[in-house]
Amino acid sequence: METMQQWVESLERRARARLGIGRVADYIPALAEQDPDRFGIALCSNQGAIYHAGEAQTPFSIQSIAKVLLLTLALRVQGDALWTRVGRNPSGMPFNSLAQLEAEGGKPRNPFINAGAIAVTDRLVGAFATPSKHLRDVARRLSGNPKIHIDENVQASEWQHRARNAAMAYLMQAFGHLDNDVDTVLQTYFSCCALSMSCVDLARAFNFLAAEGHALSLGERFVSPDLARRINALLFTCGMYDAAGDFAYRTGLPAKSGVGGGIVAIVPGRFSICAWSPALDERGNSVAAQHVLELLADDLGRWSRAIPSDSMTIMNI
Ligand code: DON
Repeated sequence: METMQQWVESLERRARARLGIGRVADYIPALAEQDPDRFGIALCSNQGAIYHAGEAQTPFSIQSIAKVLLLTLALRVQGDALWTRVGRNPSGMPFNSLAQLEAEGGKPRNPFINAGAIAVTDRLVGAFATPSKHLRDVARRLSGNPKIHIDENVQASEWQHRARNAAMAYLMQAFGHLDNDVDTVLQTYFSCCALSMSCVDLARAFNFLAAEGHALSLGERFVSPDLARRINALLFTCGMYDAAGDFAYRTGLPAKSGVGGGIVAIVPGRFSICAWSPALDERGNSVAAQHVLELLADDLGRWSRAIPSDSMTIMNI
């Protein structure tokens, strides 16, 4: 039987076939400089074992993956009151669409489209003195990596090209759905998206969602089991934007993508994964990272049919 490490290496080898397809995000100029052929994958078991292959220790811009941390922090401080400002349904629209926001009275469909994450950030600006530093520190603690930082070059680039996000924020303000200064909210949102983390960092940081809220690096619960289940439900239905249905069909896994090319996915009760490759499809999701997660889900399905669950335990997954 192949070991977990051999399995992750074979996933990486097979997924490399998709390199060269897709395009690096260029609407944020600082991201346009990325090499599209980079690829890495890391898996963190609920026992804390890390398996990785490719460029899994190279930091990249986490972009929209930060929206999961923003949401988690906002739910921790606000609880269900958050849902007066943002919905919980898939949008079926591109992540930066303005049309739906106008049509629906300034209440974004979900916390993972840009408008939704900006609304969530507004709540955090009201709750913390320095919310982006707080979020960075949470990322450091969850991943056990004190070197995680905000990439100021990416943050400045997002700020300079903020027109669409600013339009969303002003539209929400016009509807009375944004309480804080628009520039402060946008700066905070961009700082969080500009966090630089590796596949290993992200697999570790998001393991709490695979482990009913228990965070390995904290040695305690980060969120309740109910909250972990609910966040996973939102990832499953909204984490991949207008491709959420397709991705759910292909993998059956809750996941969140970012335009830096990263995707975090959760196998509840077993492990968390992060795959990264910068070239994106037309919906803004990494081509090779989606592919490797599909290969992984296919293998898991085959194994659970072929071998008794005891063997899975022996393999630590
Ligand atoms: O606001 C933006 O457009 C970026 N900071 C984040 C977008 C993103 O990652 C969408 N993900 N696929």
